[in-house]
Amino acid sequence: MREKKTFYISTPIYYPSANLHIGHALTTVMADAMARYKRIKGYDVWFLTGSDEHGQKIERSAKNQGIEPKVYVDDIVDGFKRLWSKLNISYDDFIRTTDERHKEVVQNIFKTIYEKGDIYKSEYEGRYCTPCETFFTERQLTEGNCPDCGRSVELIKEESYFFKMSKYQDRLLDYIEKNPDFIQPVSRRNEMVNFIKQGLEDLCVSRTTFDWGIPVPINEKHVIYVWFDALTNYISALGYGTENDALYQRFWPADIHLVGKDIVRFHTVIWPTILMAAGVPLPKKVYGHGWLLLESGKISKSKGNVVDPNILMDKYGVDAIRYFLLREIPAGSDGYYSEEALIQRCNTDLANDFGNLVSRTVAMVDKYFGGIIPEGDVPGQFDDELKVLAAKVPEEAENYIENMDFANALAAIWKLISRANKYIDETMPWVLAKDEAQKGRLGTVLYNLLEAIRISTTLLMPAMPETPARVGEQIGFDLSNGKWDQAKVWGLIKPGTKVNKKEAIFPRIDPKVLEEDLVQVEEKPTEEAFVVEPLKEEISIDDFAKLDLRIIEVIKCEKVEKADKLLKLEVRMGDETRTIVSGIAKHYDPQELIGKKLILVANLKPVKLKGIMSQGMILAASTDDMLEVLTINKDLPSGSKVK
Ligand code: ME8
Ligand code: MG
Repeated sequence: MREKKTFYISTPIYYPSANLHIGHALTTVMADAMARYKRIKGYDVWFLTGSDEHGQKIERSAKNQGIEPKVYVDDIVDGFKRLWSKLNISYDDFIRTTDERHKEVVQNIFKTIYEKGDIYKSEYEGRYCTPCETFFTERQLTEGNCPDCGRSVELIKEESYFFKMSKYQDRLLDYIEKNPDFIQPVSRRNEMVNFIKQGLEDLCVSRTTFDWGIPVPINEKHVIYVWFDALTNYISALGYGTENDALYQRFWPADIHLVGKDIVRFHTVIWPTILMAAGVPLPKKVYGHGWLLLESGKISKSKGNVVDPNILMDKYGVDAIRYFLLREIPAGSDGYYSEEALIQRCNTDLANDFGNLVSRTVAMVDKYFGGIIPEGDVPGQFDDELKVLAAKVPEEAENYIENMDFANALAAIWKLISRANKYIDETMPWVLAKDEAQKGRLGTVLYNLLEAIRISTTLLMPAMPETPARVGEQIGFDLSNGKWDQAKVWGLIKPGTKVNKKEAIFPRIDPKVLEEDLVQVEEKPTEEAFVVEPLKEEISIDDFAKLDLRIIEVIKCEKVEKADKLLKLEVRMGDETRTIVSGIAKHYDPQELIGKKLILVANLKPVKLKGIMSQGMILAASTDDMLEVLTINKDLPSGSKVK
């Protein structure tokens, strides 16, 4: 029997120096989407994340709070795990650098390299940036400060162990050249090659000025430098060098170390040279994605512009946040975060394009076929175009995902969603429904729409873990355990199955939530799917000009006795006062309308309603069960013309 192909992906192990923000969520969601994609492609997947808990920065933070470092990190790491569970991160293992299993492997590797002669003791004099846990030489500084974060550095002079990194410079360059995939995207590879060509220095791999770390096995006065400690997580978690190394045998070398561009250098210079010295094969790929930026700069804990993903998930939902992160940040480059952009994505892509497609389609199957999925056996115009695209999109999405380019993969999937929406406009099911002879064609149109939904939703499984099952339930096709390749086959939905109309999968978000500091989202009634009515016959501009529409202001408003649908409004239009009777009582309390500026058809012939003379008609948008009067937001005077 052929064994399953394996796939091992990791995220960085984050510092528990503060709570995580959406920058960390971006990396972890990307890795999760990749892991989910590979799983539904049939791979044997291992997905690792964790926490990087040692070092001076953590030791100081704990001291500031007057607690032991371990107590301090335990609490924050619990928060990491809660966040990942809420974000539906499907990791297989969570490695903590304080785990005994990790400590053992780090010490073994240190010892192996020492015994080989590639680690030696010497005197260190240099500059140290504590927030970045990085050593710099004088010439690497930028105006005396850390070249990475710009903060001040500390002068350090101490006895240290050094790793002969310089020895591996040529081998590393050679490896990068022979393995063009090793550093991705290409721009980062070029950057790293230039950096290495400037010359590698030996790396200081121990400290004596603090204790919060893994002791150097041959000298307990020293602790191992945090990056040596941290990078080793990728194999310690697999049990490398221990009796229990089955995972190492199965999954190493890693397929992708996914990291932010800030730590590409550690992963493509320090990590591979440590592995070379230890005689361990190198990972296949390090992918350095771009930064998530705010208008004010990179999101960072120390800058205080942290955006808490927990709050965003409460407001907008898990899949919406995941969608936004994956859709908005182009592969390899930086992207901007703003809550406005997030709401825009939710409303345009999720509620309008995707959500409406699902609810309109299911509503039509309900309305025209009593909820039973019809046969799709009467082909017609526009079918081929939809099917050809549906056959192309899975492969297109796949190619992008293989390159960690989720933004373009999702854009490709949305081409199919948009095409399906256009297919509704083209085929006009509500017109077909009027002609009994077209019943077969109508059924086919709806069947094709359901298939287009099934295919696009299958492709969304890696990005949005909760949505597919919900959509599947509505379209009568179980997507909770779907496989990627099902998206490549047309016609899997069985005619005769029942659809299940449910509330909208992505309700529209009222942009007003931005003005509220509250975490709570206003519960909006879900958008009802409905069939768009055909248009009335064409009119000329002159016909339209006959209408006289005016702004009016509501002064008084009350219920009309014995008429539960009617409200009586007293309105001002310039200096004129009018009485209007309007059938909106089911949708508005009388007080709600007082002071509102509405739009009146002012030259409509007055009519008597329940004994009251109504002098015009108020404009309102409505469906079967929803209604909203049209209003204006600027302060135009009553009597102003509307045209
Ligand atoms: O560097 N945009 O941990 P860390 C995009 N412990 N990604 C961001 C981001 C942003 N604004 N902010 C953070 C460490 N990230 C080490 C790693 S690995 C052996 C040790 C993500 O808590 C991105 O993946 O500072 C970045 O590389 C990582 O968080 C840094 O996390
Ligand atoms: Mg950092």
